[in-house]
Amino acid sequence: MITKIVFGDPVRTDAVTARVPKGEKVKNFSLTREEKRLVFRCPLKAGDAVYGLGETMGRVNKRGGRYISFNTDTADHTDSNPSLYASHNFIVIDGERPFGAFFDTPAKVTFEIDYMGSGEVVADCETCDLNLYEIEGGSAYEVCRELIRAVGRCYLPPLWAFGYGQSRFGYASPEDFRAVADGYKNNGIPLDYICMDIDYMDGYRDFSFNERSFPDPAAFASDMRGRGIRLVPIVDAGIKIEPGDPVYEEGVKGGYFCKNRDGGFFSAGVWPGMTHFPDFLNTSAREWFGRQYKFYTDRGFEGFWNDMNEPAIFYSEYTKGLKNPLYRLAMDILFGKRRKEKKERELVRDYKSFFHDADGRRLRHYDVHNLFGAMMTRATSEGLERLLDHRFMLFSRSSFIGAGRYGGVWTGDNSSTWEHLMLNVRHMPSLNMCGFLFSGADTGGFGGNCTRELLLRWLAFSVFTPLMRNHTSKFTRNQEAYSFGDTDAFRKVIGLRYRLLPYIYSEYMKAALRSDMYIKPVEFVYPEAKGIEDQLLVGDSIMIAPVVTEGALSRNVFVPEDMTLVRYDGGFKCESASRGWHTVGVGLDEVVFFVRRGKLLPVGKPIMNTGEYDAAALELLGDGETYELYTDDGLTRECTEANIRLLKKA
Ligand code: NOJ
Repeated sequence: MITKIVFGDPVRTDAVTARVPKGEKVKNFSLTREEKRLVFRCPLKAGDAVYGLGETMGRVNKRGGRYISFNTDTADHTDSNPSLYASHNFIVIDGERPFGAFFDTPAKVTFEIDYMGSGEVVADCETCDLNLYEIEGGSAYEVCRELIRAVGRCYLPPLWAFGYGQSRFGYASPEDFRAVADGYKNNGIPLDYICMDIDYMDGYRDFSFNERSFPDPAAFASDMRGRGIRLVPIVDAGIKIEPGDPVYEEGVKGGYFCKNRDGGFFSAGVWPGMTHFPDFLNTSAREWFGRQYKFYTDRGFEGFWNDMNEPAIFYSEYTKGLKNPLYRLAMDILFGKRRKEKKERELVRDYKSFFHDADGRRLRHYDVHNLFGAMMTRATSEGLERLLDHRFMLFSRSSFIGAGRYGGVWTGDNSSTWEHLMLNVRHMPSLNMCGFLFSGADTGGFGGNCTRELLLRWLAFSVFTPLMRNHTSKFTRNQEAYSFGDTDAFRKVIGLRYRLLPYIYSEYMKAALRSDMYIKPVEFVYPEAKGIEDQLLVGDSIMIAPVVTEGALSRNVFVPEDMTLVRYDGGFKCESASRGWHTVGVGLDEVVFFVRRGKLLPVGKPIMNTGEYDAAALELLGDGETYELYTDDGLTRECTEANIRLLKKA
């Protein structure tokens, strides 16, 4: 049961698309109205868990933490940082009568959840204009599904987006990309796509290629396609201020950029130097921005990642000393390496100094800040839908609930640490609760140097996340799967992803069609597993228990009912695992997971690329009777239950 309570005159976020009955007042919270804010409070009982909040630090059970929804470009992924790149204001209180609340406002919201042992949940909204959705259900899982239903069908990627991808900030020339394709091919490791980071661009301008390196991008894309590899260019939020540049000129002419208080366009320094931000809250500006992707689609590109869309600001027109050219040069050089922490004060000043024209409603950016990235994803997705007659790959750094209908997300600049592997494990169910099914982290870590062991363990987890992309920063150790000596273990682990493709694709598509989660906490199905956060359910048949500890060659696993233990080391070996705790050995060159009782797991033949996937040549593991396999051409937009067929165990 979902009800909508309206306070004041909320900004349209379009987060919810379902028709939701209106309620008069909040049922499960007490509410204090202060001059410019709404504060919700709800007491917690000792054993109540609190789920949700998507991409935030902390555990899956958010108790004990303070989280601030204020989208931030930050590499500080530690528990002392309250804000990451996204705002997912949905919480579920799993007590005697589970209920959830979605605080649908693009303004800043601070959540204190049993913070400092307060024994209550406090949601402090920096606005008096809010749509509050209250959801009641028989279980936390049901409450999440109700929210997912209300948001609307999540984004459907093409089959190839479920392949494995390689990325690096620093690949700059066709030779770099060819070397990656060859590195994988020569080592017999499957690969589907390579991401192009900002170095493909001309002076970091969106919708451009560095012509010296890429004289004929279409021919290059087609050559790579011939090798079975798709290229996925990055697109940043800011448009470089460059008189004479057609994209910039069009943006100025159409008035598509965010404005200052005095009516001029707001300028902010990001990778290309000074830029204007497209006004993604404006329909015409969104349509204009979406049209620009024709530049890529005309040249055969069908996958994109949207970045810097919190929006990140390195410096702005208000930054002291900016008028001094030497100072600016120094800033450009310095910010080329990117300052780690932009002082919050400066950012708030910048965000308070520009405005949106939300189709006639003038809004100060600061008050709608958390919507910016989501609306960039929407602009891109709607644009690509008009440009292409089939599905495309799209994932974004910044997001807000609802953006999961338009594209996926990745969780930004993590680092090569075991803590961040565990953070990835925690993020996945929380993101799914908020309707972001196509998600993943930078496998191996973005910052810092990854070790062979960490990459193998991280890959063994990423095998199960819809977005499986290895990405690292500039100036870090090489992180491609062939960069760590003997490649046998990598071939096996990444190879497993491809053997599981029939399952991963089917489970994702069914979850999307049925408003379900693709990855969920084990306790959503097995209450006796409460508090176990390092094991997850992936789809309907699989439970995973990834190794997230350095040096460990075994781990303890709670098996909540009799299951089949599957060990993959290039082949599948099945044994039974009875209900209870087990210490399970897991070598570095293998992946261990579990198939639930009464369920089946379809596995395919070893392949090098999703293009070789054959849904007719499958084997079924597990002790179930039937499996619902989803098949289509991997591109069509016609995604319905009719594409599901029942496989029966012989
Ligand atoms: C920040 C992104 O989070 C990262 O993934 C990317 O490599 C850099 N920007 C450069 O584009």
